[in-house]
Amino acid sequence: MKLEKKRILTGDRPTGKLHLGHFVGSLQNRVLLQDEYETFILIADIQALTTHFQNPKLINDSIYQVTMDNLAVGLDPDKVTFVQQSQIPSIAELTIFYSMFVSVNSLRHNPTIKTEAKQYGYDDLTYGFLGYPVSQTADITFCNADLVPVGDDQLPHMEQARKITRRFNELYGNGETIIKVPETLLSKNSRLAGLDGNSKMGKSLGNAIYLSDDSKTIDKKVKAALTDKNRIALTDKGNPNICMVSQYHKVFNEEEYENTCEMCRSANIGCVACKKLLAKKLNNTLEPIRERRNYYENNLNLVKEIIIEGTKKANLIGNKQVEAIKEAMKIIL
Ligand code: TRP
Repeated sequence: MKLEKKRILTGDRPTGKLHLGHFVGSLQNRVLLQDEYETFILIADIQALTTHFQNPKLINDSIYQVTMDNLAVGLDPDKVTFVQQSQIPSIAELTIFYSMFVSVNSLRHNPTIKTEAKQYGYDDLTYGFLGYPVSQTADITFCNADLVPVGDDQLPHMEQARKITRRFNELYGNGETIIKVPETLLSKNSRLAGLDGNSKMGKSLGNAIYLSDDSKTIDKKVKAALTDKNRIALTDKGNPNICMVSQYHKVFNEEEYENTCEMCRSANIGCVACKKLLAKKLNNTLEPIRERRNYYENNLNLVKEIIIEGTKKANLIGNKQVEAIKEAMKIIL
């Protein structure tokens, strides 16, 4: 008997190109997992509407950008299924079903919802925004995913998803598991700080380094990075603990990290040289990604085909799942 691979589902909101924070927090991990697991990557264009409903053009363009970023880091379209969320009716149906027994208070107390509401300046939340963890549960369960690799900001949503699936089985399972309770796979490097010292990298924070940035842009962004402010002259001894460049060496230049710290502390390397070293490392990391991205940019039809084919496959799975769920809920005639 052939042993079935476990299934992974994870996703991105198409609200712009992906950056190094996404790379460190999840994309790298996806590449490592794609052989061991049957992988689904959801392009969550409906979830993108929860915050960007006034900007449909950006979302539409970003479906391609985000898919290309995923392909560029090394996800293999022959192994991985790319899915356009809006084209999967079973996700919409499951969202409605789950919404009947999810309490509004549990959503209002979701820490990620609270943080994002503050970040976007919402005081009165839309129904769709408040409820997106429910729709995210539908994302995960339309294909009965076993595992969801995510960064730590998604933990409250995973908790909610586990609660919803458990409750569903309790309510309608008749002693059986109709919907798998998904496990969380937390990324090792969950969060990448911005070079400006902000604890997070983000497009809206203005500190994003995109996977598609060219080498000159990388040089420029690294040059502007926050270093130890007390280090003015080259002969001053530096403190790498309060330097963003050093933090990045730790992530992207692990072999030389200790050495650069030592040289900084003893004033044997200046900030300019240290930044150059980092920029070079980043460019080395990004070069193969740029190359693959370039290929797909020149073959947009291929990207479209990858999404359409993946979505087709996902619908076959989703339709079956909805059938079983409707039957369990007695939504039948
Ligand atoms: N909320 C996720 C994010 O902002 C994106 C996402 C949508 C997702 N659907 C998902 C992640 C399902 C994991 C599983 O990054």
